[in-house]
Amino acid sequence: MRPVETGRYLVTGGAGFIGTNFVHECLRRHPQAQVTVLDKLTYAGNPRNLDPVRNDPRFRFVQGDIADAAIVEPLIAEGFDFVINFAAETHVDRSIGDPASFVKTDVFGVYTLLEAVRKHPVSLFVQISTDEVYGEILDGAATEQSPLLPRNPYSASKAGGDRLAYSYWATYDIPVAITRCSNNYGPYQYPEKLVPLFVTNALQGEKLPVYGSGKNTRDWIHALDHVNAIFHILAADGVEGEVWNIGAENERSVLEIGGELLRLLGKTDALLASVVDRPGHDRRYAVDSSKLRAKTGWKCEVPFEQGLAETVRWYEENADWWRPLKSGEFLDYYKRNYKFL
Ligand code: NAD
Ligand code: TYD
Repeated sequence: MRPVETGRYLVTGGAGFIGTNFVHECLRRHPQAQVTVLDKLTYAGNPRNLDPVRNDPRFRFVQGDIADAAIVEPLIAEGFDFVINFAAETHVDRSIGDPASFVKTDVFGVYTLLEAVRKHPVSLFVQISTDEVYGEILDGAATEQSPLLPRNPYSASKAGGDRLAYSYWATYDIPVAITRCSNNYGPYQYPEKLVPLFVTNALQGEKLPVYGSGKNTRDWIHALDHVNAIFHILAADGVEGEVWNIGAENERSVLEIGGELLRLLGKTDALLASVVDRPGHDRRYAVDSSKLRAKTGWKCEVPFEQGLAETVRWYEENADWWRPLKSGEFLDYYKRNYKFL
């Protein structure tokens, strides 16, 4: 049995969207757990996300790059039961403009963490990968055996980190588990991604940029259902050297999501606006997570309509969180990225 309840957790990327949700939930669920966050605080990392736990004696924050062995090695030498690697460059659109940081963090950063774990053993290293490594799935759903066909620099870099983690299990017997989750939504998501961008644009009375036809679909899962799946994996036997798909079987097109968000905000579809399509835009992602459900008993618990409504309310009530983010470099990126038709 791994020490899930009393464990020492190193959460890399813990100042980002899903990492933040994991840290809050870990400390809430497990009064005896200790959590250290290692985060570079890129544009996507927000120290304010950790304010609710900052003064908790069980919590510690370390600023640093997962690709910097001079920081990673002595930190991991302190001794951890779990390393959960959320740290990554994560936005497909930014990877198209600047792939270098993606290769550095999502491949070399994973290598740096794995090397440190090779010297200083842990009970489990969880590599948070993504369903995007399968590439677009036009029919059915990808199983853990499906081929990896990533089609953009983000998903290709994530596939590199995913397979590198696996290789450390196969070659060095490092206890590694790899998760491939579908698209998350929920509180604390940086407002460049679909759901928070659309909600905050609508709240600002701005257009919602829809790529191409708007018919591309994703499988949407609440971040807390993703976090819960990770805790199920930490507690289960026989997860090492295995890939675990995590999905909600909740497929929606961009137009469906946009329409639903506008309805929740009491606004009309007139705010939806076509923009030039994203190059290499994957039409559909879908994963089969029956392996995880059968092995651990995990299932999705947040109904989509409820989760989306709560998420919209969170952004409405936390304008002081997202307004400062939609300024400066973000506005330059936004102008560069979108060509309204
Ligand atoms: P995010 O962009 O919100 O947060 C990423 C965090 O990593 C930020 O806090 C950032 O500062 C930190 N970071 C980036 N580079 C770093 C580096 N070199 N060293 C240390 N920290 C660094 O991302 P997210 O949406 O929370 O995603 C977390 C993980 O989950 C990623 O690995 C992503 O690939 C994966 N994932 C995300 C989704 C999704 O829908 N968001 C779905 C499946 C998998
Ligand atoms: P995104 O949130 O970037 O995640 P993914 O990594 O799955 O691409 O985009 C989700 C979907 O929404 C994807 O089909 C692209 C589309 N999209 C838009 O149409 N407009 C936007 O402004 C954004 C950010 C995404």
